[in-house]
Amino acid sequence: MSGDDAEARGAERAMSPSSNAIERAAEAALRPRTLDDFVGQHKVREQLSLVLEAAKVRGRPPEHVLLSGPPGLGKTTLSMIIAAELGASLRITSGPAIQHAGDLASVLTSLEPGDVLFIDEIHRLARPAEEMLYMAMEDFRVDVVVGKGAGAAAIPLELPPFTTVGATTRAGLLPAPLRDRFGFTAHLDFYSPAELERVLQRSANKLEIALSADAAREISLRSRGTPRIANRLVRRVRDWAQVRGDGLIDLTAAREALTVYEVDERGLDRLDRGVLSALCTLFGGGPVGLSTLAIAVGEEPETVSEVAEPFLVREGLMGRTPRGRIATPAGWRHLGLTAPRSVMMDSAQLALDVLDETNETDVTEETNAPRD
Ligand SMILES: Nc1ncnc2c1ncn2[C@@H]1O[C@H](COP(=O)(O)OP(=O)(O)OP(=O)(O)O)[C@@H](O)[C@H]1O
Ligand SMILES: [Mg+2]
Repeated sequence: MSGDDAEARGAERAMSPSSNAIERAAEAALRPRTLDDFVGQHKVREQLSLVLEAAKVRGRPPEHVLLSGPPGLGKTTLSMIIAAELGASLRITSGPAIQHAGDLASVLTSLEPGDVLFIDEIHRLARPAEEMLYMAMEDFRVDVVVGKGAGAAAIPLELPPFTTVGATTRAGLLPAPLRDRFGFTAHLDFYSPAELERVLQRSANKLEIALSADAAREISLRSRGTPRIANRLVRRVRDWAQVRGDGLIDLTAAREALTVYEVDERGLDRLDRGVLSALCTLFGGGPVGLSTLAIAVGEEPETVSEVAEPFLVREGLMGRTPRGRIATPAGWRHLGLTAPRSVMMDSAQLALDVLDETNETDVTEETNAPRD
């Protein structure tokens, strides 16, 4: 199974950070349309508003913008806001949609002056298209190849000034020459629970749902720092409130609904808990190999490594080591279990290994302090 399949399977889960086609319609209705309406990400918002304002003052399109960060944090939303704030038209395409350089050439040659060209998943552009984009971004020019074989000729075409907005969940995969052609790069971070509460209140207003402050708090704590997940959970809680409650979303409705959907108080779902619990109860906390762990929970290794693990590792509940996966003491505690002494020793050893590797004294506090 490829990474994309793992993503597609992930999108079926309540806690996946990716979205599927049906969900995208629901999302479109909830997207903020202006920078002021975009919650959180203060630095990025401030920097971006300067870039856009300055461009407006100069009467020229702004430099190319790269948006990077994990799924569901607002990259597509921001690209739409950029076009709207500039009063420009937005052309949308994506790395996987551009199979050949010719596909990109036809998009580029149809651009109007000042257009914003949004390229989603820009790290997945094919090599020849990528090279064509370098030239288009830097010199506003493309070479269009006409004819075949010995008679083929490259005809240079001027492009109008335009702004590329690239989005990527994997900035590390972008080749340096491409990264360097963006004048401004914004990295989106996970949202704090307080910011997610504001996302939720905003969505509740739009959907005309009555959402109490403590329910918003409860949902925000289970949303993994991701607005897409917060918006999805509030829709599931609304279902519960309309069918089993009185239509209002209060703390009880939030807790009961999220119990039905098996989303625990820290945002772990059934798969995450299955992985963690197999790790602790079947394998004594590890280390255990990925494929063995996957068999134990009845999933493909890719689903475990790409869907469940990133969040468990980020939360400090499990670790990936050269010898295999391990549960951290916080992971044991989260399941209400006590870690055996050997696990405590192992994590202390792991912390020391990390120290050895980095050879930096200021990580001491971070590696020794249990995170939860
Ligand atoms: N800062 C924000 N304020 C309010 N809502 C937000 C914010 N960021 C994201 N959202 C909501 O979350 C949903 C997902 O955001 P978006 O589609 O922009 O994520 P993305 O980063 O493009 O994800 P992917 O990497 O999967 O393409 C949107 O429908 C939007 O309503
Ligand atoms: Mg997107």
